Amino acid sequence: MKRYKFAVMPLLILLVCLVGCSIFNRSSLRTTSEDDSGQETPYRDMPKDGEGYIVVGFSQIGSESDWRTANTESFKSTFTAENGYYLLFKDAQQKHENQIKDIRNFILQEVDYIVLDPVVETGWDAVLMEAKDAGIPVIVVDRQVSVKDESLFTCWVGSDFRKEGRRAGKWLESYLESQERSEEEIKIVTLQGTLGATSQIGRTEGFEEVLSKHKNWKMLARESGEFTQAKGQEVMENFLADYDEIDVVISENDNMTFGAMEAIEASGKTCGPEGDIIVISFDAVKAALQFMVAGKINVDLECNPLLGPMVSEIIEKLEAGKEVGKTQYVEEQYFDTTMSLENMIKNRAY
Ligand code: AHR
Repeated sequence: MKRYKFAVMPLLILLVCLVGCSIFNRSSLRTTSEDDSGQETPYRDMPKDGEGYIVVGFSQIGSESDWRTANTESFKSTFTAENGYYLLFKDAQQKHENQIKDIRNFILQEVDYIVLDPVVETGWDAVLMEAKDAGIPVIVVDRQVSVKDESLFTCWVGSDFRKEGRRAGKWLESYLESQERSEEEIKIVTLQGTLGATSQIGRTEGFEEVLSKHKNWKMLARESGEFTQAKGQEVMENFLADYDEIDVVISENDNMTFGAMEAIEASGKTCGPEGDIIVISFDAVKAALQFMVAGKINVDLECNPLLGPMVSEIIEKLEAGKEVGKTQYVEEQYFDTTMSLENMIKNRAY
């Protein structure tokens, strides 16, 4: 009996230490969080540990584009203390593993809601199950998650990316008709977004639906420019080196378009309605519309980044015990050089 006691005692002491440490860590997580520079910053410096505020943890993809900056700003300006919120914002720098870490921290911090903009569609089942087990509703925004069990998230709000891609194809169809080029062989290259992201998948597949109806449209190459200007420029430079003739560039976001325009001009070619290469872009941020007015982009399919107020409305409904729609699309349009854009650009929020 005595020998048994001696063997068990050290184990018991170890157990007590481990439990103590875990409680300590958990409580320190509730009072501080790491900002993007890795520094500890007070996170609940509000009255009575957040009492009276709705605490929202937002896992943002990164800051890869003008669209993303506008999207972040929309959340930051909506989820303010004046509006009754305390926002925990994390920038995952385009990394899936960072988002998983951020969500796990939100769960430990016992936030009231998690808002997730997922970099790619796959790989979310386990962490969303952890959020569900912790009783924290998850609102997915912009890009979607592909999970086996749809009850792992409350709802999704964002753009109809497939419709945007299809719209781009339809626009090209009627533009070529207006130029009397419907029968010509049309050589196309595509700068794709981050592979596996809903915006990339939808835009590629939507355009493909129209492409498949035109035997004379040749897709020369598709490659990811990761939604960034630098990578967009690099990929376009490669396309221009590989193909002497390119009639159309489809660029799955405006920042890649800016990079592609640099590459086109550096190669001695021109782009836009009067140029050598037709440019089709997505997002319709202010800078891109200005380039359109300057005659360098032919058409821009709008993608609305102002999702903050919509998510706040969803949270208000959930707080009131109301049902919310599982899938919520935002309204969008497109712009081309036949439209008068100057006044609209002046008043545009992004
Ligand atoms: O998911 C939305 C896309 O992501 C936007 O088109 C792009 O600019 C952003 O980076």
